Amino acid sequence: MITSKKWLTAGALCVAAMGAQAQVNQVRVWAAACANCHGTMGKAEPGMESLAGKDKDELLQKMLDFKTGKKPATIMHQLSKGYTDEQLAQISAYFSALKK
Ligand code: HEC
Repeated sequence: MITSKKWLTAGALCVAAMGAQAQVNQVRVWAAACANCHGTMGKAEPGMESLAGKDKDELLQKMLDFKTGKKPATIMHQLSKGYTDEQLAQISAYFSALKK
């Protein structure tokens, strides 16, 4: 027989797991906004920068430089301003983990 305390523990673990899953899905939603230009799953058509498999810190630095205007851009300076630094870090980690 399972005690109610065990059920509580199982319930708490389940909620924690769902929270982590929701976070992953959120990053995917942000990353999907990049797919139009940088390709599905970060693999771009020739002539456009692919994001998949790039170094995480390099991606983040570029995004932050776009945001501050340090790196010249036609569009990315606008887009990068739509995300917090923390969100950009998560997006960078997401793309760097994808296969080239
Ligand atoms: C409307 C098209 C468009 C979308 C959407 C877009 N980008 Fe870009 N991206 C560009 C263009 C164009 C450049 C080249 C710099 C410029 O002119 O702004 C670029 C450049 C970059 C670079 C620098 C590549 C390099 O090595 O120089 C990174 C990193 C990047 N984008 C990341 C992203 C991320 C992450 C997203 C989603 C949050 C995104 N982009 C969404 C068009 C887009």
